[in-house]
Formats: sequence, C-alpha cells, structure tokens
Amino acid sequence: MGRRPLVAANWKLNGSIGLCKQYAEKLSNAPQIDCWVFPSAVHVSTLAKMFKESAANVRVGVQNIYTEPTGAFTGENSAELARDVGATTAIVGHSERRIHFMESSQGVAHKTAQALDAELTPIICVGEQLDDRDEGQAEEVVEEQLEAVNSHCSTAVWQHVTVAYEPVWAIGSGIAATPEQAQEMHNRIRVMIKNWNEPASKAIRLLYGGSVNSRNAGELISQPDIDGFLVGGASLDIDSFGDIVEQARIGDAL
Ligand code: PGA
Repeated sequence: MGRRPLVAANWKLNGSIGLCKQYAEKLSNAPQIDCWVFPSAVHVSTLAKMFKESAANVRVGVQNIYTEPTGAFTGENSAELARDVGATTAIVGHSERRIHFMESSQGVAHKTAQALDAELTPIICVGEQLDDRDEGQAEEVVEEQLEAVNSHCSTAVWQHVTVAYEPVWAIGSGIAATPEQAQEMHNRIRVMIKNWNEPASKAIRLLYGGSVNSRNAGELISQPDIDGFLVGGASLDIDSFGDIVEQARIGDAL
C-alpha cells in the first residue's frame, strides 16, 4: 500500500541530555524511514534543537498535552506550547495516561483536536486490558476508544493522525502480542476507519506497541496492516532502538 514505516520512541518518565545526544548522533544521517522521538516534556526543546539539521523524517514530540491551549492550569503543557519549543507531534491517550491519570476516551478526543489545532500530528493510542481480551471484548474496547475521536473530531480526522494499537497486557511485560494477534486487531482498526473514511483508511499508519524489541520487530512489521512501532523500554537503549529501526527498514524493502 506504500505506507512509509514509522518507528517512534516513547521514553516515558526516563531519559537525559545524554540520551538526547545519543539519539541526535544515531539519527543524524537520515534514516530511510520516519523516526519520531518522544522524550519527557522538559527535554523536547533540547532534542528538537539537536535534530534541527536532521532530515525531515525525524521529528520530536510530547508524550501528552492538556485539553486547553493556555490558562490557569499549573503544571500542564499544551499543544501550543509544545509547538513553540519545536515539537511537531504528540502522543494522546497512552494507556498509562488512561489508567494512572483517569483519562477518558472523550478527554483523548479533545486532546486530539487540540493537537491538530496546534498543527501537531497526534499518535492516538488504543488498546484493551487483559480482562477485556479474555472476555472477548478487545475489539469493542478499541472501537469505543476510536469512536470517541471520530464523533468529536469528524471523519476527516483520520487523514491527519496516526493510531498506535498497544494492548495493555503487552506494555512493559516482555510479552508482545503475536504477529497474528497484532495483525488481526490492526486489520479490524483499518476496517473501522474504512467505515468512517475510506481513502484515509488506506493511507493511515497503524503502529504496534507493547514489548517491541529487535527480535520480534521483523516478524511484526511483515504483517500487512502493521506500519511501524511505538517503542517504550527498548527505546532507552540507542542500539536496540537502532536495530528496531533497521528491522522496519528491511521489512519495508522486502
Ligand atoms: P514497551 O512500551 O515497549 O516498554 O512495552 C510501549 C509503550 O508503552 O508505548
């Protein structure tokens, strides 16, 4: 389908100026696929400046934004502010936000709209918990999460976003979804989006996240509806991240 692979690094509440420098060095000679890096909010400006000379396929983003652009919301960061310091993308709806910070699907839909208003490309994270899967509810959960965005932002939204399928049980557990499980859900997601916006469903990139490493990346990327990864733990080691990027590049060339 000609979708360019995208590998994203989510550092979560980790990282350092040292890791920023390692990334700047590693990604300085234009990886042939897209690489988006999500350091903590306090490192965004530093990393964005380091990447300034890099190719356009390397981007820096924030891991979260607030639902309002400005105002008396001590401690929050908005899409507008992130844009001001060099971010061009934002993760919204990561399961750690949904679970630890009680973010609802409606809140995630508002954040998606905020990101787009500030010209940040959102990566919308969706995914079921283990209980949902065991009860055969995985698809319903993911559909509810996507439907909230669709009804708040309109069907045109799918032309401007990336979706990451991250089963909660696979995140940080060392147990990734099998390529078959991931492909099945990615295909379901593409079909859901097709029902809302057919042209966008062909072009939208669907990332898989949850215990991706250099050993499982090759088989996952070979699935027809998996267009890249959102990498947590393995992104903290620059060589592991580089290996995953390489797997995605090779997978695309096959
Ligand atoms: P993980 O995290 O790669 O450590 O499982 C993925 C994520 O939370 O985005």
